[in-house]
Amino acid sequence: MIPLVKVGMPDKKILMSELEKVLYSGMIAEGEKVYDFEYQFSKMFGLSNAIAMSSGTAALHASLILSGVSPGDEVITTSMTAEPTNISILHVGAVPVFADVDPLSGNLSPSSIRKKISSKTKAIIVVHYAGIPARMSEIMKISKEFNIPVIEDCAHSLGAQYDNKGIGTIGDFGIFSFQAIKHMTTVDGGFLVMKDKHLINKAKRFRWFGLEKGIPRSELNISDIGYKYNMTNVTAVIGLSQLSAIESRIARHKENGYFFDSNIPQVSGLTVPKFEKCAIPSYWLYTIFSDDYQNVQKCLNDIGVSASKLHKPNHLHSIFNASDIPLPNLDYYYKRMIHIPCGWWVKEEDRENILDALKKG
Ligand SMILES: Cc1ncc(COP(=O)(O)O)c(C=O)c1O
Repeated sequence: MIPLVKVGMPDKKILMSELEKVLYSGMIAEGEKVYDFEYQFSKMFGLSNAIAMSSGTAALHASLILSGVSPGDEVITTSMTAEPTNISILHVGAVPVFADVDPLSGNLSPSSIRKKISSKTKAIIVVHYAGIPARMSEIMKISKEFNIPVIEDCAHSLGAQYDNKGIGTIGDFGIFSFQAIKHMTTVDGGFLVMKDKHLINKAKRFRWFGLEKGIPRSELNISDIGYKYNMTNVTAVIGLSQLSAIESRIARHKENGYFFDSNIPQVSGLTVPKFEKCAIPSYWLYTIFSDDYQNVQKCLNDIGVSASKLHKPNHLHSIFNASDIPLPNLDYYYKRMIHIPCGWWVKEEDRENILDALKKG
């Protein structure tokens, strides 16, 4: 079966000797390898004011706290995402307020965001779902008008661009995930990017119990709660080893995405996501729309290709019941969508076979 998502590890020759060195170095927790990874990853993806974290969820938690979100506040968000996006809002005691999506992309609709703003709104989380950049120009306009910070959840969109800028650099905060099946993995890990360089020390303290690294604890006072959200030298070495191949992997995702973008709409009964001209997706997954998505699933499964709806709209979980309100565009999007594989492991021959099966089906 060609899987929908796949773990991509660095070449053994590059990784194993480095991994062995760090494992037996006596310096396995947060240290120089983490700081080197922060520098190299930021340089590669044009990020500044960034720190490595233990996970994307930890980075989301940090970004909400740094945005000033407190218990009882509201955070406008999307239901069409993986659960961590919205669970992190519950972690800070805030209330997720689900705005509707653009049914052509699955991303938050700026006009729906505008309608959901209240005096309690303290942040907006925007997910670039499946790797497609959301309508950031309009969203940032709303953010400025109401003075509400925007957090870009880029867990699916490493390497995507918007208006010639790297994804994650447009909002007030950007978060990335290096969980197992993302474009790039460190087994688990995350990255937090912030526009305001003055927040970086606060972010670092949040990452480490409220303490400042490098100063003896006997001289420190914890004034704000922090967590154990650091990356380790061991995972950082995996991240550093990934960097030699990540650009070519992302390029393969994009190549496959462009192929599907230009060929699938020619198949009767199928359509594909639409996005702005200034957006360059990084195609973590590819989404197809059909009135009969089960038939699409069957004809791809029959030729050994996985296809499924990878996520469940979050408002359908009982934990989000309090935020459950009608989302008609999301309902329409979700009813007709199906994800197909689009990543670096999908070869030219595979994508031709996928297209043929769709034509026959
Ligand atoms: C959209 C989205 N946001 C956030 C996360 C959380 O990332 P992590 O698993 O690294 O905590 C994930 C991944 O699981 C995700 O898909």
